This record gives sequence, C-alpha cells and structure tokens, in this order.
Amino acid sequence: MAAIRKVVFPVAGLGTRMLPATKALPKEMLPVVDRPIIQYALEEAAAAGCEEFVLVTGRGKTLIEDHFDRAYELFDTLARKEKRADLEALEAAVPPPGGIVYTRQQQPLGLGHAVWCARHAIGREPFGVILVDDLIHAETPCMAQLAAAHARTGGNIVAVMEVPAEHTARYGVIRPGAADGRLVELRGVVEKPRPEEAPSRLAVIGRYVLMPEIFDQLARQERGAGGEIQLTDAMARLVGVQPFHGLRFEGRRFDCGDKQGYLEAIVALALERPDIAPAFRETLRRYT
Ligand code: G1P
Repeated sequence: MAAIRKVVFPVAGLGTRMLPATKALPKEMLPVVDRPIIQYALEEAAAAGCEEFVLVTGRGKTLIEDHFDRAYELFDTLARKEKRADLEALEAAVPPPGGIVYTRQQQPLGLGHAVWCARHAIGREPFGVILVDDLIHAETPCMAQLAAAHARTGGNIVAVMEVPAEHTARYGVIRPGAADGRLVELRGVVEKPRPEEAPSRLAVIGRYVLMPEIFDQLARQERGAGGEIQLTDAMARLVGVQPFHGLRFEGRRFDCGDKQGYLEAIVALALERPDIAPAFRETLRRYT
C-alpha cells in the first residue's frame, strides 16, 4: 500500500493558553531548545515519507511561512563565513520547493473545519493530520507508526494514549473494541466527555491517518462540542463504515500548548541532546 504522501497541519489556533507570549508570535513558533515547535512536526512528517505539507493557517501566522523559506541573506552570510554546520541545519529545515501548501482558515470554526479547508490540496487519498501542540518524541516517529498501521489495516488510524479519568474532558475519547498488540479497534469516539460519560480513558492525541471520505462528513458542517465543527464527530460517522483503529503509539507526548507541558518538553529534549545535555544537567541541579 502507498505511503502517506500528504499531511495537514492545522495551525490557525490562537494559543490563548500561552498568552502573552503568543499575542504577536504564532504559538507554533515558540522554540523548544533551538527550533520552533512546528519544525518538529514537519520533520516527523518528512520522516514518515510525506512529501507535501498542507498548512492551514490564519491571520497573524505569516512568520511560519518565513520560517520555511530560504533566507537568502542568512544563507549567504553563513556560506561566506564557512559556518557549514549552521548552514546545513538551516538547509535541512527548509522543505524542497513546492513541498508546502498554505491555505487559510478564514473563521475559527473548529478543528474539523480547519481540516476541511485542506480538502482541495489533499484530493481523494488517505492523508495524515498532525496537531503541532502535541510534540511527540519517539524512536520511530509517531506519524511513521501510524502510516505503518494504516498500511496493515487500510483504514483510519488515530494515535491514542491512556489519560487520568479526570482529564477526559480535554480530549476526544474512544470506545475501544478488540486489541491486537498496540492496535485497538475503534467502536466510537466522543469529543471532550465528562469523566462519568467517557467510554474509556483512551484519549485521542494529535496524530491521525484519515481516509478521504472524512471530507464528505466534514462537508456537513455540523456543530458539536463547544459549538465547533469537530473532527471527532466526523470520525465517529465513519465508524462501522470503514476500518478504524486507535494506535497506542510508542513515545513520549508533550502538550506544548500548555505551560507545564511546554517547559517539560524543553527540559526533556535538551537532556536528549549530546551537545547540550552535560552542561544543562549541571545547571538543572542548581534548581532542584
Ligand atoms: C483536539 C481534538 C481532540 C484531541 C486533542 C489532542 O482538541 O479535538 O479530540 O484529543 O486535540 O490534543 P484541542 O486540544 O484542540 O481542544
């Protein structure tokens, strides 16, 4: 089965949990160690074999476009100064020409609406979705894990992880069926249920492989939780129609849309970096 060629990145969100840092700066541009959060997401998609990145942006997000462009003055200066390592790092961050498509979500109508805005860029083929706030550090990139699961089942796959019962109202939560290793059959999914209504503690984390039929469901533009057009509701309508599974992915997930998760991501990823970890570990000791 063909790899997932296209991935959608909904990046129109306002980032209200990180104000005032995100008043003028897109939340996706906040740095974790030395690169913006969005760069981790694109690298993850590229590592899964994706060739086309569809960014659904909004007003105030043009810095993201600048980040993925060649910066001629910078590249030229680094080349003249023979700063080869810096130059290579910058080159690696820029996708090949034509690799990124931008479209705007003109109104904040919800995640389902944002994904629907990418329908023309995607066409009628299975595609990935990465929610950039969910930074996932894994040996095998999470999107590659999902793509492999999709190749096995031929259907829809969402990343899932167990969360504390008191946190179900923050997530889409699945009704699980039979399990097969890390794969679990998905029998239903509910957006942000209260703990007493949650069908399980298996929460949807921001990685999806979806079949193009999701667009037919999203086109109905029905409002769900919070009055928004929810991706979760469109997914629920494909249950029983197409193969649908949750994948208990391998790896650590950091919610970078939240102060605690963001700070943890910085510490965890810095401690994985051989060029930074030894000195940083010493620094941390002074604070604990
Ligand atoms: C979105 C989805 C939700 C999912 C979550 C993962 O919610 O609607 O189903 O569990 O991302 O991070 P949001 O965080 O945008 O409220």
